[in-house]
Amino acid sequence: MHKVIFDTDPGVDDALALYYLHRHPQVDLLAITTVFGNAPVETTTRNALFLKDSWGIAAPVAMGAAHPLSGPDEAHWPTHIHGRDGLGNIDAPEPAAQPDARPAHQLIVDTIRAHPGEVTLVAVGRMTNLARALRTAPDIATQVKQVVVMGGAFAVPGNVTPAAEANLHGDALAADEVFGASWPVVAVGLDVTRQVEMTHAELTDLARQAGPEVALLRDLSQDYIAFYEALNHRGMVVHDCCACVLVTDPDLFTRRTARIRVLTEGIGRGATVAAPLDMRFPPGDWDSAPAQDYCTALRAEAVHERITRLLLAR
Ligand code: BDR
Ligand code: CA
Repeated sequence: MHKVIFDTDPGVDDALALYYLHRHPQVDLLAITTVFGNAPVETTTRNALFLKDSWGIAAPVAMGAAHPLSGPDEAHWPTHIHGRDGLGNIDAPEPAAQPDARPAHQLIVDTIRAHPGEVTLVAVGRMTNLARALRTAPDIATQVKQVVVMGGAFAVPGNVTPAAEANLHGDALAADEVFGASWPVVAVGLDVTRQVEMTHAELTDLARQAGPEVALLRDLSQDYIAFYEALNHRGMVVHDCCACVLVTDPDLFTRRTARIRVLTEGIGRGATVAAPLDMRFPPGDWDSAPAQDYCTALRAEAVHERITRLLLAR
């Protein structure tokens, strides 16, 4: 069983990822923590609480960071991708569930300490909460089983600048601190996530077969699908769910190990630099970074099949 903390900014693909973790028989979802990104943190928290209500999720939801550790705030929220409400403009009702009293980083620390060596931290938004948790309690780095992040563009262009993927661009310093900590990180970046698409027809059919829980996913995904279709994708790109499939089905992914740094300033802000372990550089910033993993390939059809199989499971 995988004990998981899910750090997220729902977010359309975040919602699918949350459903995947909630319904997967090998996942024990311990906590949900929210961060700014696809919308302000008040909105992403409200969305997480709404999804908790809608799907009967037991895990607590704690609100996290509203701003990056350093660098500018978001110039504008991606309403053209995730909707004005961060959830596809579905006009969701006020959630009945209330957030946990603790800030997200404290819930992360408490949950890891309650299950030493067992927790997988899945982060699919800006990594601000993770960096705050590390700064508050550096001991958690040795107590986490693994950290899986959706983020980065290693050998492909970014999606918010030619250099950077959104989650790293939005808080580059936090990402650099997360890759630089002595916990094992796996990055599932745009190199692989762009290959897993779910079409409008597939989601419509899945919702018809599976019922109201998946119909909610279908409804909130409509504008997101249209956004990706306009970019010549066959359907929605399920970035965040790929990171969740890596937790449950790691054999579907190919990884490379490197010393990973994230550029924090200038036009390259949020870009990843992966220094191969067998290359020698003068002592300094590069050789001090720990070896971490990033994904270079995945079996896209098999990942897609795992997601659709789970959506259909009763
Ligand atoms: C990432 O940015 C967000 O829009 C998505 O939810 C995903 O986490 C993709 O770059
Ligand atoms: Ca996300």
